Amino acid sequence: MIGCGYLGAVHAASMAQLGHEVVGVDVDEPKIAMLAAGRTPFFEPGFEELLAESLASGRLRFTTDFGDAAGARVHFVCVGTPQKRGEYAADLRYVESAVESLIGVLAAGELVVGKSTVPVGTAARLAELVGDKVPGAMLAWNPEFLREGFAVQDTVHPDRLVYGLPDENADTAHALLDEVYATIVAAETPKVVTDYATAEMVKTAANSFLATKISFINAMAELCEATGADVKQLADAIGHDDRIGRKFLNAGLGFGGGCLPKDIRAFMARAGELGADQALTFLREVDNINMRRRIRMVELAREVLDGSLLGKRVAVLGAAFKPESDDIRDSPALNVAAQLQLQGATVVLTDPAAIENCRKHWPQIDYADTAEEAARGADAVLLLTEWRQFRELDPVAFGKIVRQKRVLDGRNALDRDVWEAAGWSYRALGRRHAS
Ligand code: UGA
Repeated sequence: MIGCGYLGAVHAASMAQLGHEVVGVDVDEPKIAMLAAGRTPFFEPGFEELLAESLASGRLRFTTDFGDAAGARVHFVCVGTPQKRGEYAADLRYVESAVESLIGVLAAGELVVGKSTVPVGTAARLAELVGDKVPGAMLAWNPEFLREGFAVQDTVHPDRLVYGLPDENADTAHALLDEVYATIVAAETPKVVTDYATAEMVKTAANSFLATKISFINAMAELCEATGADVKQLADAIGHDDRIGRKFLNAGLGFGGGCLPKDIRAFMARAGELGADQALTFLREVDNINMRRRIRMVELAREVLDGSLLGKRVAVLGAAFKPESDDIRDSPALNVAAQLQLQGATVVLTDPAAIENCRKHWPQIDYADTAEEAARGADAVLLLTEWRQFRELDPVAFGKIVRQKRVLDGRNALDRDVWEAAGWSYRALGRRHAS
């Protein structure tokens, strides 16, 4: 397994769990040292236990030495493809360097399997490189659909398998992948066997669809704000139509993280290179709608705080880009918290898992260990990541800690009636507010 981040580390431990002998390789020495010692470098429910079991089985080890990848029959590439600085395109340097390093240890008959999210056309280019340098070695593209927070479950029980296979040796590559995923295949998991380009596009299309769905409901939220309609009820009502479905129709602060935002941008950039940019111009709007929600949230806070953020004490609940994660990459919550602080508010931020990561990026914000501590003396409380412990707060007890009972629900996650009954003024994106 080349690359031991959120994807690779979980995949490595899961594959060991499925009975394979796995070696995880990464250039990041401290990360490898932690994983080898059974400590998790990031927060992911269930991962610590899985890691401990897999290490104890003797089938999993970690190393920084690429040479240890020699002799494996299957080499997974799980490195990141972040957005390039100052551009929309994906930065492929880690994928390229992983494949180049692999070429040094690869032998005929072995299979390189790309899992990283890459621009369409990458697999064909890498396959040519691999084939030229190591005749008889093969490459397949096998995108990953795991969600952070559910990474273990999604890896061991994925909802589908997608194999992008080479024209030559397709049957051999197919059989090898089936062997790796034997238990998943045996569970009759739907499998789509296709070419490289389709496999690559399945991933970017899926993430673009999810981003579009979220921005659609957030665009409706903007309209609800203009008309006095209620976006939550609207989502419930349209979601009953199973052609639409209720999932991913939660209006609020919008999407963030290390995937959706950069994937839609890289997809647009790639479409431009292919002369098909018109096909994806709508994704620019999806991106715009999404970013506008963060600005709106800051405006709403200012409005609620009598028109000025200066000197106001604001408790922010949540910093991770979603619950059950410590990931703050492009986090809408952290983005709003930072804006509030930059615009003169005194922000006290709490998150069950992400505070350590936040501190490194925003040392000027105050951090608290609990929601109660963050809310002490607050002029307003903002719920920005819908962790269960925040959703389950008791508004009566919580109301005794704050200076002003004003709550802004950035994720439409609180029970509005209960909070209002406890004397709170409740505001949320896309919802009517009691005047
Ligand atoms: C996403 C995809 O869901 C995975 O299938 C994919 O494998 C992964 O990207 C990836 O490319 O690696 P993830 O980034 O973990 O997974 O998070 P999601 O659960 O998709 O949530 C993304 C963002 O959308 C979060 O900030 C979340 O708060 C937001 N969201 C989600 C909403 O604002 N509303 C919703 O209704 C749902």
